[in-house]
Parts: sequence; structure tokens; C-alpha cells
Amino acid sequence: MTVSAQNHVAFVTGAAQGLGLGISMHLLELGWRVTLFDRDQEAGDEAMIAMSDAQRDRALFISGDVANEADVKLAIQQTVDRFGRIDGVVNNAGIANPHSGSVETLEWDQWQRVINVNLGGAFLVTKHATQHLREHKGAIVNITSTRAFQSEANTESYAASKGGVVALTHALAVSLAGDVRVNAVAPGWIEVGDWQKSANKSQPHHSEIDKSQHPVGRVGTPNDIAQAVSFLLDAEKSGFMTGETIRIDGGMTHKMIYAE
Ligand SMILES: NC(=O)c1ccc[n+]([C@@H]2O[C@H](COP(=O)([O-])OP(=O)(O)OC[C@H]3O[C@@H](n4cnc5c(N)ncnc54)[C@H](O)[C@@H]3O)[C@@H](O)[C@H]2O)c1
Repeated sequence: MTVSAQNHVAFVTGAAQGLGLGISMHLLELGWRVTLFDRDQEAGDEAMIAMSDAQRDRALFISGDVANEADVKLAIQQTVDRFGRIDGVVNNAGIANPHSGSVETLEWDQWQRVINVNLGGAFLVTKHATQHLREHKGAIVNITSTRAFQSEANTESYAASKGGVVALTHALAVSLAGDVRVNAVAPGWIEVGDWQKSANKSQPHHSEIDKSQHPVGRVGTPNDIAQAVSFLLDAEKSGFMTGETIRIDGGMTHKMIYAE
């Protein structure tokens, strides 16, 4: 356990599966107490059952929707009631499938739902957690995506939401200056098939092409992102960073591609 993690409390969204669960388990290993907030009750129950007794003693699962202000407000209050403080927020919850079809057929309510969850959720959690974060000079880490900077076709709502998260990150860093540091991580391709609830779990298989398009020679894992998140939450390690977005993608977005 690091000195800085002792008794500290993190609020992680989208934490019942995938990256959010990987981040939560890493923070628990480091000695944090963690609220896992997610709309999927079944996945949350499974995540809690899979923990060791020692981890479960320091974890709290709360079900709710990051795009619902009443759910978020209640979950922040329940976290403070249980743990007494909040030192770190990880805004990870998202509609992770970037493909939404042609812009000509994308429905307004589909567009709004992606923006509300992926961008609005980070705003709502920040809004309600900030007074608690200020008390302990805490930190926020927002999970954006390399799709904030480059695109495949037909991914407008996702790309816009993640670009919004990059901008929200630097705006908040300035607004909360002196009290709360705010940074972001932009993951590339992270394999989360083996981090899903049992009904959706899959065994990862990556082809040689999948691997070789990454200069590091492999697809990413939740641990690759979790290590960066714990670094950004820890003022002893990243205290001179705020407003920054760190790209973690195995070098994929630095690789120049010429079509044959
Ligand atoms: N996996 C990747 O390759 C990758 C790459 C870049 C960015 N990301 C981002 O990382 C985050 C996590 O993605 P993932 O791949 O782990 O996805 P995932 O689908 O495995 O997990 C997302 C979790 O968020 C929860 N969630 C979704 N909407 C919610 C809501 N409205 N309120 C509360 N919880 C909600 C889901 O129930 C799920 O447990 C997302 O923001 C995604 O955009 C993922």
C-alpha cells in the first residue's frame, strides 16, 4: 500500500465491468477504498462476489445512471456516508461502442444519449463530487479515447463526446485550480472481453494484424490504463499535472499508414 493511498476514497463510474472494473481492482490493490458506480446491477453483484473479503470490505457497489442527476447525487452522498470522504473521481462510464451508423440516419435521441452519458455523466459526477474533492485537494481522471483525435466513418456521436471530454478536462483544470487537479487518459484499443460479466464474457483472440498495427506489438489491457489512472490520482507522483490528456494506445495513433 502506498502512503498516499491509505484511507483514500475513489469514486469510479462504469466500474462493474471492463476498464472501470480493472481500474477499481487496481485502486483496491493499492489500498484505496472504492465506490463502484454502474447501471448494471448484475455485473456489479458479480464484481463484488469475485473480490476477496479484504477487498470487499473496502468496496461499495452502487447502481445508477451517470446521466441521471438524482442517481449521481445520491451515490456521492452514499459514498461520503460510508467512507467519510472522496479523494479521487474516475469518470469512466461510457457507451463504449463508437459505431452509430450514417450521420444521415442517426436519430437525435441516439445522439443525445451518447453525449449525455459519455460527456454529461462526467459533468454530473464532477458537479456533485467537487465540494468533497476540494476538502482533500483531490483529483479527477476522465477517460476519453484516441477517437477524440482521429476517426473511423460513422462514429460522430462517440467522437464528439470524447472530444468534449478532452475540453471538459482542461476547462475544469482551470476552474478548480489550486483545489482539484483534473486530467484525462485517452486509451486506444483495450481488450475488455475477459472483464465482462459472465453472460457477456469472451476469451480474447488477437490476430497478427491486430497486434502488429501497434508499435508495442500487442493490444492494450485494463491494467495499462489503470496504472496511468492511479498515477494521475496520486499528487505525490503527478502533482505538477493538470488539464492534460495522456494518450495510451501502444503507439497506434503515431503509426503512419499509406494505402496500397
Ligand atoms: N475498451 C476500449 O478499447 C476503449 C478505448 C477507448 C476508450 N474507452 C472508454 O473507456 C470507458 C470504458 O469502456 P469499456 O471498454 O470498459 O466498456 P464496457 O462496456 O466494458 O464497460 C462500460 C461500463 O459502463 C457502464 N455504463 C454504461 N453506461 C452507463 C451509464 N449511463 N451509467 C452508469 N454506468 C454505465 C456499463 O454498464 C459497463 O459496466 C468508456 O468510456 C469507453 O468509451 C474504451
